[in-house]
Amino acid sequence: MTATPSANLSARTDQRFLVTGATGFIGAWIVKHLVERGDRPWVFDIDTTSARLAALLAPEQMSSVQLIQGDITQLKDVERAVADHGITHVLHLAGIQVPFCAADPLRGAMINVVGTLNVFEAARRRRDLVRSIVYASSAAVFGPEEIYGGGTVPEGAPLLPGTHYGVFKQCNEGNARVYYQDNGLSSVGLRPGAVYGVGRDRGMTSGPTKAIKATVVGRPYTIRFTGGVDLQYVRDTASIFLRCAEAGLTGAKTYTLRGDVMQMRDFLSSLGEILPTSRALAKAEGKALPVSYDFDDSALQHDLPEVPRTPLAEGIRETAAIFQRLQRAGALDTGDLDS
Ligand SMILES: NC(=O)c1ccc[n+]([C@@H]2O[C@H](COP(=O)([O-])OP(=O)(O)OC[C@H]3O[C@@H](n4cnc5c(N)ncnc54)[C@H](O)[C@@H]3O)[C@@H](O)[C@H]2O)c1
Repeated sequence: MTATPSANLSARTDQRFLVTGATGFIGAWIVKHLVERGDRPWVFDIDTTSARLAALLAPEQMSSVQLIQGDITQLKDVERAVADHGITHVLHLAGIQVPFCAADPLRGAMINVVGTLNVFEAARRRRDLVRSIVYASSAAVFGPEEIYGGGTVPEGAPLLPGTHYGVFKQCNEGNARVYYQDNGLSSVGLRPGAVYGVGRDRGMTSGPTKAIKATVVGRPYTIRFTGGVDLQYVRDTASIFLRCAEAGLTGAKTYTLRGDVMQMRDFLSSLGEILPTSRALAKAEGKALPVSYDFDDSALQHDLPEVPRTPLAEGIRETAAIFQRLQRAGALDTGDLDS
């Protein structure tokens, strides 16, 4: 990413971004994109500790980040954030992931479903302000590979999620459709697969990132799944969120994202070529993921020309380089490697 604010800045001065869940992984990278081009985003999160942001931004860039502590399950918190700051664009990433929804489905539904409804409701009530909503859905709205008979899952394939998390994301897509049908409120729901990169320290598919980090610090690490996976580099995911927010799309759009589709053994072999010590340190064990991994993303390609897709080797190199820099600075948190 360039660190130079874009020449288009003046055309964007009336845009005010609220990023929910932005002290989390993907949200922090969206904030990085915004700050690097000269924006001053509002970061809405229940957890305002900023370790992921601090890992990605230079200390002087942190002053461009405006933190709001809020709970996405509380409509008043979301409404206040929108009203107080004249928010025009909402990028909604706040949520909890597959294992946490499985362990506590009621909490999962409150955060992932009611929280997303709160974002739509706040936007519906302040249509004078909010022009754009992009929210994180997930490839977990699809079921396991065998349901689709193998091969690439086509656009429009039936949504048959096999986890509470996936069912909640499907519910959000349905609610977005009804907000458009009943209120004319447009939105974009993005369905990433397994996103990797610095800051990915929790969730079912965090293993590949942890394997890179473990190799950098010289520790053994076992990825807890095998089989196929679609690894998407977080820099691309963040850029797609932002581009969709500014694309002026109409309707209740949903787009499946695609990165590098591979078997876990291919990931380990690429890691071994880039960081040879990983051959003795990193391995993968366990079952395949309960979600398909080979998707057609032609709808996104059609509506958003030149979708970025960083090759795996480049994504691994960039991720390892950031971890190495943090390690040299004594700022690399390795607590996630124990989970
Ligand atoms: N990481 C992936 O591979 C991936 C893949 C598909 C979809 N997604 C979706 O993208 C979004 C972001 O994922 P991530 O990997 O950055 O997750 P993350 O867990 O790193 O970040 C989520 C953020 O949401 C915040 N949050 C949780 N409960 C909240 C609440 N009640 N109020 C306000 N904030 C709250 C957390 O504090 C955290 O900062 C999620 O909705 C996730 O389901 C992620």
